[in-house]
Amino acid sequence: MTKESVIEVLKTVIDPEVGVDIVRMGMVKNVEISDGEIKCEIALTTPACPLATEIKENVKKTLEENFGKEHKINIVLVSDVRKSKETTIGVQRIVNLDTIKNVKNIIGVYSCKGGVGKSTLSVNLALALAKAGAKVGLLDLDLHGPNIPLMLGIVGTPKIRDSKIQPVEVMGMKVLSIGLLIDNSSPVVWRGPIQTTAVKQLFEDVNWGDLDYLILDLPPGSGDIQLTLAQNIPISGIVAISTPQLVAVVDTIKGINLFEKMGTPNLGIVINMAYYICSHCREKNYIFPKADIDLYLKDKNIPILGEIPIDPLIAQGSDQGKPIVYEYPEHEISKIYQEIASKVASSLSVRTVKRELNIK
Ligand SMILES: Nc1ncnc2c1ncn2[C@@H]1O[C@H](COP(=O)(O)OP(=O)(O)OP(=O)(O)O)[C@@H](O)[C@H]1O
Ligand SMILES: [Mg+2]
Repeated sequence: MTKESVIEVLKTVIDPEVGVDIVRMGMVKNVEISDGEIKCEIALTTPACPLATEIKENVKKTLEENFGKEHKINIVLVSDVRKSKETTIGVQRIVNLDTIKNVKNIIGVYSCKGGVGKSTLSVNLALALAKAGAKVGLLDLDLHGPNIPLMLGIVGTPKIRDSKIQPVEVMGMKVLSIGLLIDNSSPVVWRGPIQTTAVKQLFEDVNWGDLDYLILDLPPGSGDIQLTLAQNIPISGIVAISTPQLVAVVDTIKGINLFEKMGTPNLGIVINMAYYICSHCREKNYIFPKADIDLYLKDKNIPILGEIPIDPLIAQGSDQGKPIVYEYPEHEISKIYQEIASKVASSLSVRTVKRELNIK
């Protein structure tokens, strides 16, 4: 038996999401054959892969069926996040993308409405990806209400090195917010052109370094900032978020069209404060008619990435700078955020791999 024959056998293992074999996908990184053992290194396209166990089992089973009599099979999972393509179709880019050239995926968290939970989702999504082992950055782009410093309990100002702002390292992530750069206690008037300059600087003047995922906490609405971003920043995908009223969902999906028109795909929607769980009987209670939303989104072909309950633990976590995914990683609500993170990460990697392999 040779390394080549092992690789031939691995060509029969199909990636469940992309539907092509793992060798063609470039997931087989290393095969070592030594006395009595075949060691095989498989690189997942994201450390947050929801099907990691299934893939590992499939590889192990296939190799055992073929070589198991004489060899012990040792499968090592690693990850190799793929870089998504630049999707902006900006007429004339005004942002220099040098500082984000080593950022593999940029994810925008968006809603057209204020106060629906964008910042809370951005924080917990970023933490869930970091917990899975990814290199994560979080950029607060809400110039009028930069809440990320409070939500992560960050105080102080970022350091400057080689004339670039260093994001603050907190909870295993690189974080930056306009709230850390200006006096956050008094209101700031941001006229249109100044907004554009500020957004430009939060990319150009910051040492973002190597990142698998950069999460953007976007401000609400569809105005200057959103347009600047859509035209200039290669956002890999948008995660929409809405509260569970049909009117709110409809407006948010309308806002998403702005990004879609500029070539940025919508990865799906998170319904926040979707239901509450009775503290006595633990029953799930939906206040707004869920069926209408489900029907509307099905019709528009927009996947629901997850439903998050309204829960005091989430609000407390945000207010006290101790987000639920960090503070209570095993809590059932943290698991929902982790599932959302896995879906987002795998949706991005499936898109990237399909594009690389020219598969529809
Ligand atoms: N599922 C939830 N359960 C309870 N409280 C929540 C939930 N999601 C968000 N909150 C709380 O609701 C408030 C608004 O959330 P958040 O600041 O994340 O919204 P936002 O969309 O970013 O708002 P803005 O448009 O002002 O930036 C916060 O106090 C937050 O802690
Ligand atoms: Mg916010």
